[in-house]
Amino acid sequence: RQTKFLISAPDIAHLDQYLPGDVGVEIAFAGRSNAGKSSALNALTEQKNLARTSKTPGRTQLINVFALDDDRRLVDLPGYGFAQVPLAMKKKWQAALGEYLQKRSCLSGVVVLMDIRHPLKDLDMQMIEWAVMSEIPVLALLTKADKLAQSAKMKTVNDVRKKLADFGDWVQVESFSSLKGTGKPKVLGILNKWCNP
Ligand code: GTP
Ligand code: MG
Repeated sequence: RQTKFLISAPDIAHLDQYLPGDVGVEIAFAGRSNAGKSSALNALTEQKNLARTSKTPGRTQLINVFALDDDRRLVDLPGYGFAQVPLAMKKKWQAALGEYLQKRSCLSGVVVLMDIRHPLKDLDMQMIEWAVMSEIPVLALLTKADKLAQSAKMKTVNDVRKKLADFGDWVQVESFSSLKGTGKPKVLGILNKWCNP
């Protein structure tokens, strides 16, 4: 609840100017445009207007950093996979995203958010595979769970768990609703562990 907006950076060179040394712990929120990353950040921190949300995909175009305290940060990343954006702009921010993920060594966990109605698209799988290869733990978070009935929700969670079973303990799968708050205690538990290794 004490989370504070720190900076918006177009790339990690700018991040380094504000946060020299790449120290502490960062947890990144990644996922397709419109998956519900910014909404999840707000729900988890219980701060309605911390991260900007929008019905228009592609809202978050910068690396937005929020401080939990002096050493720990949450990072709202630009969404990937959205076609209706000028190519030059898309290239720029997808490059920033790739750079952040590969070079930021304080990155301690990645939450890959996916709309529960459309999980595990190619780019989601790439993101998960990349993180596990880099030995960064992943929480595959199936968002907008309020859009499905309980039985359909359970089925999707089980299907996704099966598809990601080969990654072992590196990948956990949970469902979540920013709207209803479902899944929040579990997600907070996981983030807490990542923040306090
Ligand atoms: P980009 O910044 O464009 O990458 O999008 P984002 O992933 O940050 O998505 P954002 O949080 O802005 O949410 C996109 C849309 O989904 C908004 O209209 C939200 O209100 C809606 N949304 C997000 N989470 C939920 C949820 O749990 N339930 C429902 N029903 N809608 C949600
Ligand atoms: Mg966003």
